Amino acid sequence: TVLVIDFGAQYAQLIARRVRECHVYSEIVPWDMPVADILARQPSALILSGGPKSVYSPGAPRVDAALFDTGLPILGICYGHQVMAQALAGSVSRTGTAEYGATRLSVTGPGVLFDGLPTAQQVWMSHGDSVTEAPPGFRVTATTPSTPVAAFEDPARRLYGVQFHPEVLHSEHGLDVLRRFLLAGAGCRPTWTMVNIADEAVAAVRAQVGDGRLICGLSGGVDSAVAAAVVHRAVGDALTCVFVDHGLLRAGEAEQVERDFVASTGVELVHVKAADRFAAALAGVCEPEQKRKIIGREFIRVFEEAARELEARAEAEGATIEHLVQGTLYPDVIESGSPTAAKIKSHHNVGGLPDDLQFGLVEPLRTLFKDEVRRLGEELGLPEEIVWRQPFPGPGLAVRIIGEVTPERLEIVRAADAVVREEIRRAGLDREIWQVFAVLLGDVRSVGVQGDERTYGHPVVLRAVTSEDAMTADWARLPYDLLERISNRIVNEVAQVNRVVYDITSKPPGTIEWE
Ligand code: XMP
Repeated sequence: TVLVIDFGAQYAQLIARRVRECHVYSEIVPWDMPVADILARQPSALILSGGPKSVYSPGAPRVDAALFDTGLPILGICYGHQVMAQALAGSVSRTGTAEYGATRLSVTGPGVLFDGLPTAQQVWMSHGDSVTEAPPGFRVTATTPSTPVAAFEDPARRLYGVQFHPEVLHSEHGLDVLRRFLLAGAGCRPTWTMVNIADEAVAAVRAQVGDGRLICGLSGGVDSAVAAAVVHRAVGDALTCVFVDHGLLRAGEAEQVERDFVASTGVELVHVKAADRFAAALAGVCEPEQKRKIIGREFIRVFEEAARELEARAEAEGATIEHLVQGTLYPDVIESGSPTAAKIKSHHNVGGLPDDLQFGLVEPLRTLFKDEVRRLGEELGLPEEIVWRQPFPGPGLAVRIIGEVTPERLEIVRAADAVVREEIRRAGLDREIWQVFAVLLGDVRSVGVQGDERTYGHPVVLRAVTSEDAMTADWARLPYDLLERISNRIVNEVAQVNRVVYDITSKPPGTIEWE
């Protein structure tokens, strides 16, 4: 394991992902973890991440200088580079020349990190302070016009530092530099491959669960599907999946779970068709948070009922259900605080189950990033439509109808959404676009004319955004002819819709969804 010491989370996650792209397993730990605890985890190397602070600002995070005497290979990046320089008696100062963005890096001498790479390359910088003198015993291996010590190394002690950000894609050879550190500098072996990940995940589930039975709530999304597939490979028939169909899914989704997921995994599936129950609970409700609360509450009730029935069945067969499978991912684990805490963050939305269910938790994806989960899903033979599915909110189409949710409005928004998705897929844009969907303005009507007749129908909003993580998003610059096709088809094919508008708001200030 390579431990990424986190001085500022947004950098650390990306570094950990890139290390894994080099086929070396990595995890993130907080900067104040004691050296003894770091050693106890027997890391093969450490990476000190970038961070938002100046090493001079009061309370700036530091590491114990003893870290550099442990003999562990260490790479410092940006802030981490400066922390290393400072701890080992080099100098760091505010040179007055901050560097942000793309810069030309010149490799100035032989070294481990740049061996075999071009001597001039573009790198991405973001710093105010600079290392002005490398620590004793180190040699400077690269400079930029305004940063004299852009990289340094002491290969004998296996200590390396770079001022630029090798983890961002704008650093032309950044991934190569990371790989050079991991393989040549630190002697790590590139064994973190999908086949091994799958095998290890399956073995870990077997080791955890023993003989009892397990249940898993499927949402139709990627995470729960892949989690279930891993567990099924580990324990076979001991797993039962429960799919709560709340009637708020998109066209074809319930069938996809029932047919494609089951066909590709062989998992036992209990399909609870609860659309009527959700519709009744939602009748007359317009307020978005109210909708979410109702759906969340009903979801838990329905799931618990299904779980109780399965428990009764197990009991009759002399068995017990002992574990609940959840598709928690590594970013959720990091964000909920301690990487080692067993408790999951409570998602206050649909699919979030209460902590008081009397089951142990099995979370086979706890160490994985989303892109790894998708590749693991492919490795396990899940269909592409499930593995590459765009994010979809737990409350489903209910938050894509502005106003009351009625069966008729659900049908309209579902039909419009199906057109949108089909056209986007045909245009080959479905992986490039983070989310694309239709929103029905249920309480708005506008005048139109169709076949010489005046119409008074509902507008549909087309929303398509690009994003990395849903925290920020930009509206997608869809080609005009594609917009035209989507608009024409929706007004022609979907009853009661006579107008299509395109949402050109980024997030912030907008959100991705309309509710
Ligand atoms: P917003 O609309 O806040 O959405 O920009 C960010 C991401 O979260 C999804 N989303 C939800 N997911 N339950 C969910 O499981 C919800 O209540 C919910 N609301 C929004 C949204 O689709 C986007 O990916």
